Amino acid sequence: YNSGLLKFRKIGSPSKPEWGFLTPIESMQEIPFDVKRIYYIYGVDENEVRGKHSHKSLHQVLICVHGKVDVRLENFYGNETYTLNDPSVGLYVGPDNWREMSNFQNDAVLLVLASEKYDPNDYIRDYDEFIEHNQKRYGVKK
Ligand code: TYD
Repeated sequence: YNSGLLKFRKIGSPSKPEWGFLTPIESMQEIPFDVKRIYYIYGVDENEVRGKHSHKSLHQVLICVHGKVDVRLENFYGNETYTLNDPSVGLYVGPDNWREMSNFQNDAVLLVLASEKYDPNDYIRDYDEFIEHNQKRYGVKK
């Protein structure tokens, strides 16, 4: 599979709940690639849909560090919608996933860890081209 949820550590202090939590993420430990870039998406209107593209070779992990957002992934294996609302959970999104982020809530902040620097040539922004690309790469869906 080229996508799925990751559960990170959530370090707290049971005897001191006011201390809060800390979630550490290290390259090649908690996530399966070296991080070369981070960015975050925020201030998105509830009715807005972001993404609507796939990547040819980029690996990413999406973490909703505040609030809540829905992420729909479509890939060779199927179609799945994940609700991200826990800073200790990451959604691994490998190459060849069409992604759409919607229903941004509560001033959501979506943190993205990426395996490569920004490269516009790695994007497929046309849905039909995405389908064609995946058929060439994985074969026609039965
Ligand atoms: P885009 O990836 O299209 O955003 P989304 O898919 O979340 O809606 O990027 C939006 C704009 O930001 C686009 O003009 C490219 C630019 N951008 C960068 O310059 N560097 C980056 O690392 C990213 C992710 C985007």
